[in-house]
Amino acid sequence: MHDIVKDYYGNVLKGSDDLQTNACCTDDNLSSSLKVILSNIHDEVMSRYYGCGLVTPELLAGCHVLDLGCGAGRDCYAMAQMVGETGFVTGVDMTDEQLAVANQHVEYHREKFGYEKANTKFLKGYIEKLDELNIADNSIDVVISNCVINLSPDKHAVLNEIFRILKPGGEIYFSDVYADKRVPAHLKDDPLLYGECLSGALYWHDFENLAKSVGFVEPRLVNSRAITIDNNELATRIEDVNFTSATYRLFKAEGLETDGQNYAQTVTYQGTIIEHEAMLTLDQKNTFIAQQATNISGNTWHTLKQSRFAEHFVFNGDFSKHLGLFAATDEQFDFIDDHAENHASAPSSNNSTSSSCCAPAPAPDQKNKSSCC
Ligand SMILES: C[S@@+](CC[C@H](N)C(=O)[O-])C[C@H]1O[C@@H](n2cnc3c(N)ncnc32)[C@H](O)[C@@H]1O
Repeated sequence: MHDIVKDYYGNVLKGSDDLQTNACCTDDNLSSSLKVILSNIHDEVMSRYYGCGLVTPELLAGCHVLDLGCGAGRDCYAMAQMVGETGFVTGVDMTDEQLAVANQHVEYHREKFGYEKANTKFLKGYIEKLDELNIADNSIDVVISNCVINLSPDKHAVLNEIFRILKPGGEIYFSDVYADKRVPAHLKDDPLLYGECLSGALYWHDFENLAKSVGFVEPRLVNSRAITIDNNELATRIEDVNFTSATYRLFKAEGLETDGQNYAQTVTYQGTIIEHEAMLTLDQKNTFIAQQATNISGNTWHTLKQSRFAEHFVFNGDFSKHLGLFAATDEQFDFIDDHAENHASAPSSNNSTSSSCCAPAPAPDQKNKSSCC
C-alpha cells in the first residue's frame, strides 16, 4: 500500500487541483493573521497542498512541532511562523517528490520569516516507524497531521508511535477522513479510492477506540464536516459509505478515566492567549469565556493541568467529592446526522470530479475565521 500511495502523491497528482474530492476548498474565510501566514509561503509549496482541514493548534511559541505526512510542507511552513524562531518544526514524509518541493524552499522561508537559522527540517521515512528516524520518547510538544493517517496500512503503529514521542501533556492535533461504517475490504484495494483518502479511512468509532487503546483515553473532536462526492463514477464505486473530514485532538495525559466524571470542578480562563483573548475553544464540548468560571469534567481538569495551557487557567476544586457522570453541554459528534444534513441539500447535476468542500466547520471561537481548508 505504501508504494501505491507514493506513486499517487509523487507521480499521479501534480497539484491540489488534481484531487478528486476537495477541489472546491478555498481559503476565503481564514482569519487575517492566518491569511498573512499563508501568504508568506512559496507558491510551489501552496500548489501542492493536499490537506483536508485546517490544522492550527493554539499557543505554539517555542514548541517543537512534528508534522506527519508533511507532503510539500505547507503546514510545516505555517507552523514555522507560529512556533517562532525559538521553536522548531520537523516534517516527515515517505514520498521523494513531495519532500523535494519541501526541501527546496527551506532557505526561501528562513529569509522570508527573517530568522537567523532555519527552524524547519524534513525527514524521509514512515510515520509507522518514527523510531527509525531517531525521534526520541517524550520529545515532541505537538504533533500535527493533515489528511495522512487514513493512508497508513498500520494505523495502530502510527498512533502508538505518536503516544511514544509526545511529551507528557503534549497533543496531536490533526485533520483526517473518517467513514460512517467499516469500509469493505474490496474497496481498500481500489488505488484511486485509497489514494483519494477515502477507502483507507477508519470507521470513526473504530478510530476512537484505537486511540483509547494506545493511551489517548479521551479523543476530543474539534470540528467535522461531511464530504460529498459529486463525481458519479467515484460515488458509485464507494457504494454506501459516507465520509467526514474531522479534526481531533488527542492529549497524552495521566489519570484520565474512561468517561468524563463530575467532581464539581471549574476552571477560569485568564484570556491570556494571543488571538483568543475573549474565549478559548478546546474542542466541541469545551469553550471557555475569559474570566468566567466554567464547569469541567475530571478528565478535562487533568488534561488542561498537564498541558501547555495550564498557566492560562485558574483551577477551582479537587477530586474529593464525586457527583456522577459529567453531563456534556454540547451535542455528541453524530456522524449520521452530519450526512443527513448534507444529503438534504440539492445534489449537483453535473459530473464534475470534485466533491463539496471538505473543510471542517470552524470551532465556536473561529466562526469568523476559517470555514475552508
Ligand atoms: C493527502 S497528502 C497530504 C500532504 C500534506 N499533509 C498536505 O496537507 O499537503 C498525504 C501525504 O502523506 C504521505 N504519506 C502517506 N502515508 C505515509 C506513511 N505511511 N509514511 C509517511 N508518509 C506518508 C504521502 O506521501 C503524502 O505526501
